Amino acid sequence: MKFEMVTIFPDFFRGPLDYGIVRRAREAELLSILVHDLRAFTADKHKTVDDRPFGGGEGMVLKPGPIFECVESLKVASREERLSAAARETVVLLSPQGHMFTQAMAQELAKLERIVLLCGRYEGVDERVAENLADREVSIGDYVLSGGELAAAVIVDTITRLLPGALGNAASAQQESFTAGEKAMAEGPDSTCASGGLLDYPQYTRPAEFRGLSVPQVLIGGNHEQIRKWRREKAIEKTRRNRPDLWEKSSH
Ligand code: 6GU
Repeated sequence: MKFEMVTIFPDFFRGPLDYGIVRRAREAELLSILVHDLRAFTADKHKTVDDRPFGGGEGMVLKPGPIFECVESLKVASREERLSAAARETVVLLSPQGHMFTQAMAQELAKLERIVLLCGRYEGVDERVAENLADREVSIGDYVLSGGELAAAVIVDTITRLLPGALGNAASAQQESFTAGEKAMAEGPDSTCASGGLLDYPQYTRPAEFRGLSVPQVLIGGNHEQIRKWRREKAIEKTRRNRPDLWEKSSH
């Protein structure tokens, strides 16, 4: 998988993508990350990337020119080929106005070979980018970030975990909260799987007693049927309490 970020803060990505699973995936060449500085695609001496909004209003808007120039320089497949899935490439605009990024969207994107992430900034991005250049507009949640860079890092991290070979244990990506895969939907959660659209069950490790706080006895007993039952109950309890929205649409 090749990710290419388009940003006015290229140095931003030093750090968040240099640790853990993402770092190992890069070292194993399962993943490459290229960062492109939007200012390199400006034509004026001040390297202007933004301007005032037509019609008035607060803040500045990213100009279309440098973004189009940058994406064209990357030699991605045509928008037509991308949208018809003739090419396993996509161009994504990151903004709070986008479709919600979910685990299902991550699974869809993980099948591609190349993802270009356009990081919005300021009050917005000239709409011609969303309408004519990007294949889709994506948001990571209902809150406003000061730019798309953090969202891009979130998306890279999420998709990396889905790449074959990126996790030590290939099973673990299948079993987590939100996956709700075919198996989980059909059979319900098993001893290590709290899926089926529920949050994960609570985990404990040693010591069995910490500052007077004990690990639930059932986990120490070794009765796997009981453990399975307990985990499912706790996953349900936690989902109902923390995410009533998920509980409503889960397959419980
Ligand atoms: Cl992708 N961009 C910005 N600026 N804010 C966001 C977001 C993206 N997703 C949620 N909030």
